[in-house]
Amino acid sequence: MTDVLQRTAPRSVPAPWLERPAGLCYGGDYNPEQWPREVWAEDIALMREAGINLVSIGIFSWVLLEPRECEYDFEWLDHLMGLLTDAGISVDLGTPTAAPPAWFWKKYPQARPVTREGMALGSGSRGMASPSSPEYLRAATSITEQLARRYGSHPGVVLWHVHNEYGAPVSESYDDSSVAAFRDWLRARYGTLEKLNEAWGTLFWGQKYGEWDEVDAPRVAASVSNQAQRLDFKRFTSNALLKCFIAERDVIRRHAPGVPVTTNFMATNCLSPDYWAWSREVDIVANDHYLVAERTDNHVLLSMDADLTRSLAGNRPWMLMEHSTGAVNWQGRNIAKRPGELARNSLSHVARGADAVMFFQFRASRYGAEKFHSAMLPHAGTGTRIWREVLDLGDDLNKLSSVKGSTVRARVAILWDVESFWAQDLEWRPSSDLDHRERIEAYYSVLWNQGITVDFAHPEADLSAYDLVLAPALYLIGEKAAANLREYVDGGGHFLVSYFSGIVDGNDTVPAGASPGALRDILGLEIHEFLPLREQETVSLSGGSGSGTVWAEDIHVGSATVVSRYVDGPAASGPAITRNAFGRGTAWYVSTRLDDGDLAAVVLDAAGAAGIATAPQPPQGLEVITRSTPTDHFTFLINHSDADAEYPASGTDLLTGAAFEHTAVVPGGTVSVIHAPEGNS
Ligand code: GLA
Repeated sequence: MTDVLQRTAPRSVPAPWLERPAGLCYGGDYNPEQWPREVWAEDIALMREAGINLVSIGIFSWVLLEPRECEYDFEWLDHLMGLLTDAGISVDLGTPTAAPPAWFWKKYPQARPVTREGMALGSGSRGMASPSSPEYLRAATSITEQLARRYGSHPGVVLWHVHNEYGAPVSESYDDSSVAAFRDWLRARYGTLEKLNEAWGTLFWGQKYGEWDEVDAPRVAASVSNQAQRLDFKRFTSNALLKCFIAERDVIRRHAPGVPVTTNFMATNCLSPDYWAWSREVDIVANDHYLVAERTDNHVLLSMDADLTRSLAGNRPWMLMEHSTGAVNWQGRNIAKRPGELARNSLSHVARGADAVMFFQFRASRYGAEKFHSAMLPHAGTGTRIWREVLDLGDDLNKLSSVKGSTVRARVAILWDVESFWAQDLEWRPSSDLDHRERIEAYYSVLWNQGITVDFAHPEADLSAYDLVLAPALYLIGEKAAANLREYVDGGGHFLVSYFSGIVDGNDTVPAGASPGALRDILGLEIHEFLPLREQETVSLSGGSGSGTVWAEDIHVGSATVVSRYVDGPAASGPAITRNAFGRGTAWYVSTRLDDGDLAAVVLDAAGAAGIATAPQPPQGLEVITRSTPTDHFTFLINHSDADAEYPASGTDLLTGAAFEHTAVVPGGTVSVIHAPEGNS
């Protein structure tokens, strides 16, 4: 069982892909239990018409499969599996453990998750029990065992889908079982109470522990809780959830050897566990993605999510397990997708390595919390634009089957460490405007607009394949990561760091001496004081570097060269942007929040120095990304603007059959996938 998280690289054994379908997977969640059986036949006929070849079933069906404890009913599922298999539609079989039945909650009230404030959550919704509840573990593995025994060698099941989105809506739980499991986890991590006291800095505010049973989960207290304790509780929770996954996965593997097992991630979601550890345990990385509908740059955020997913998958093909055909129902304003957006979104995931395009869900629910959520088959039926676009997408994916298995190569990596985000988000930071997500999006967007492909990497991972590594937000740097980053730059890497990085170690403790502790000598500077800015305050930078907001610092350079200085504001005349030669490499530092244009100039300088900025900049709104095999290149040109766009490319558009020599023309709102054999792109 994984007790200490391994977070650097995906599993070394190559993941199996699905035995079927032959081409790219297309389909979605299918919840036919909400409909009379006559509808099932109609659904399956419509699925065939749309080219759907894979559906996820059974995800919320625990009470139907086990109406009373240890009494089972598989008749309906047998029938459904028969219909799907006869129609040639493969099954991604869910375990239903994200929604225990009412009998479970009645019989085992102690398994209810408890919030940090001490409130036990009620039933009548969905969401797992406490991740550390022994009653839940027993019930979850037992229904999984029944399913795996019955369908482990069923010819229709090509994939197992454990649970649903671990971490949402239940993650941290403060119930008694969790507190006991937390103590065990801490014993394994620290060995002795002395070490725990030291790691948590318990001499501060007199928190020192004398006995293990004095240690509690960091529930709401009179003032700010111990921050190292909170961080450890987040690590513990990620691991506790992962243990739940592994327990079910191992049951399935016993009965369904060789059939891949996965669970659906929410890659960039703030509720997520530490997916670097999780991606080692799933056979195939699968992700759910929903647009932040209100944002007009939501396609850029989609790309970021997809690039992170590909990176979690170790650049092997991955599955888009869920997205939406139109509006969702759970955002503030649920903006509908406009014509063509469904295809652009789907193909952007494919461009970034997905070999499966799945939606939530096939047929829209008439009742329940999600009745206003879009679906492949809307309430209004087949006479709708959405259904027509679903049919068109099925055609497009069919034409793209040769893309399957190809990979994406990136020369730039952005460091992504959820532990650092967890720590940074705790209370009493120097400014409430510090926002790791905002900075990562800003740096990512600059590269996206340039058509520069980006991977994400854990700071402890092997970075030697990247010419440029960016740390837009790396507040926490543990010992291993510090040594790794040092080695990367020393060995000739180019490293660009944004402010409030390298501030604490793995225990949320400031390393001895000036900030940024772990990065001091790599960057060749010391920070003597943080100088957060007032709301709306702007500081000017010298040498045409623009202006900054949110943050400034009193920087004292050692070996670093000053690229730009603060002209005014609290750090006036001090360094604002620096560059340092370290070993055979170079490290840049940006100490304020530059707006997009000014940031682009710095990022492109660093990219240029790393020898990267060779591709022509795409016209505004044109997404450019290439998947390759040893013999072929597939360049996806996704035009998110209304205007026609041109881009240098030669080859044949797999979607339209058009041949291009030197320049491809992509009409506004559409997608071209230019196929060119190696040597001819
Ligand atoms: C999540 C869940 C689905 C559904 C969708 C709706 O991704 O996994 O069951 O609730 O959200 O957007």
